[in-house]
Amino acid sequence: MGKLGLGIAAACAVASCAVAAVMAGRRVRSRRRWWKVVTAVQEFEAAAATPVGRLRQVVDAMAVEMHAGLASEGGSKLKMLLTFVDNLPDGENGIYYALHVGGTNFRILKIQLGGQRSILGHDVERKPIPQSLMTSTSEEFFDFIALALKEFIERTGNNSQLSQVRGKDLGFTFSFPVKQTSVSSGTLIKWTKGFAIEDMVEKDVVECLQKALSRRGLDMNVAALVNDSVGTLAVGHFLDKDTVAAVVIGTGTNACYLERADAVIKCQGLLSTSGGMVINMEWGNFWSSHLPRTSYDIDLDVESQNPNDQGFEKMISGMYLGDIVRRVIHRLSIESDIFGPLSSKLSTRFVLSTPLMAAMHEDDSPDLREVAKILEETLDIRDVPLKVRKIMVKVCDVVTRRAARLVAAGIVGILKKIGRDGTGGISSGRIKGYKSGKMRRTVVAVEGGLYTSYTIFREYLNEAVAEILGEEIGPYVILKTMEDGSGIGAAMLAASNSARSVDTVQVL
Ligand code: BGC
Repeated sequence: MGKLGLGIAAACAVASCAVAAVMAGRRVRSRRRWWKVVTAVQEFEAAAATPVGRLRQVVDAMAVEMHAGLASEGGSKLKMLLTFVDNLPDGENGIYYALHVGGTNFRILKIQLGGQRSILGHDVERKPIPQSLMTSTSEEFFDFIALALKEFIERTGNNSQLSQVRGKDLGFTFSFPVKQTSVSSGTLIKWTKGFAIEDMVEKDVVECLQKALSRRGLDMNVAALVNDSVGTLAVGHFLDKDTVAAVVIGTGTNACYLERADAVIKCQGLLSTSGGMVINMEWGNFWSSHLPRTSYDIDLDVESQNPNDQGFEKMISGMYLGDIVRRVIHRLSIESDIFGPLSSKLSTRFVLSTPLMAAMHEDDSPDLREVAKILEETLDIRDVPLKVRKIMVKVCDVVTRRAARLVAAGIVGILKKIGRDGTGGISSGRIKGYKSGKMRRTVVAVEGGLYTSYTIFREYLNEAVAEILGEEIGPYVILKTMEDGSGIGAAMLAASNSARSVDTVQVL
């Protein structure tokens, strides 16, 4: 080989070393970026962790706050509202209608009760509530509802239906915090879940509906105004007498339960024929320093329509879970390029809905095809490798697991308050509901899309209830799904209320 040949060979060697060095440098940088992402996800997971010890602290905090909310008006972030429902229905007969307003959908129901714990049939119609109505005026809002009810009655019956419903009792499920003055009246305390019809606040909800029904020529009587959790408890109890509490986990979240009237200290003059009262906890507003709050939750709250409000709801319910995931992905995209160029969609609030997030989480295809599809169609993020799709699933898992486990802690908190968790509650050392090995069967009715349609969420929730209660008590606590329970329950309460015709609960 001549000098020239040697020179060329040496130059080639130098060039390939340089290329190799550049490649190695890139690999190192890309590995570093990858580890940065992995570390960020691990940090998020640690901040959102819900080990059983922490859940037990949430259980205790829930029970303590329940006591405080019952002791005095404003004594806790838990409003612990009176519902004036003291007897849960069990043997009503006849055809009843119900309306349910509360989340993304509005529902109208017609239900035929056959007495003796039997529901002979029911028709349901779901209608999405137009976004514009959520921030309109009370008149526009209730006119829309009354018209939909009128059309439903005409559609589900023969021509004479409108005259047949004359004077009929109607159940009205209104899933927002309401200060009830009787079982069929109450004023709206505040809006939640993105609704903001300002002229409604502090107005009597039933009066607004009743006026709209008259404007549409519907001669019907709103016999029961109920929160969706209360409707769910009514139907749960109708089907199974051991049902003592109900939980809703849908667009928003809430719980109610049967309390002793004498435990409602803030309302000393409460007279109820049964000695009990259903309490609407409005647990979406629960707060405790034991809740595992992350920086994403703080940002979500600050940018929400109701900052400092509904803190528990913002970590749990369907309105928010998808948006927490979106926020995490947004931050990861800013800090690294693993999701490709930063997509502007990632800064749009609520662009990733919880059903889409659940679909990604439950994608069981080997190459996570559904994840890729949703990333592309909803977030404008294309061609990401499998390991990045897996990161996406991991983030969904962290958010969902935390939510489900916090609901579990909330449920056990209620059981603790009423002495059904096997520990004797917080106010006495006595073991209530668990005497000499005889624990009472306790049923909690659960409604809402997160529980009924999101399998992983439901599994995490059931698993956490069993984990907190332990092997001895766990088997006695049963969570039962109530599809459309809130609406059916409202119709039942309308039935039992019209049958009794007089209020059996009074505040002296
Ligand atoms: C409301 C509750 C309701 C819950 C579930 C919350 O935002 O404040 O009244 O029961 O959502 O729909």
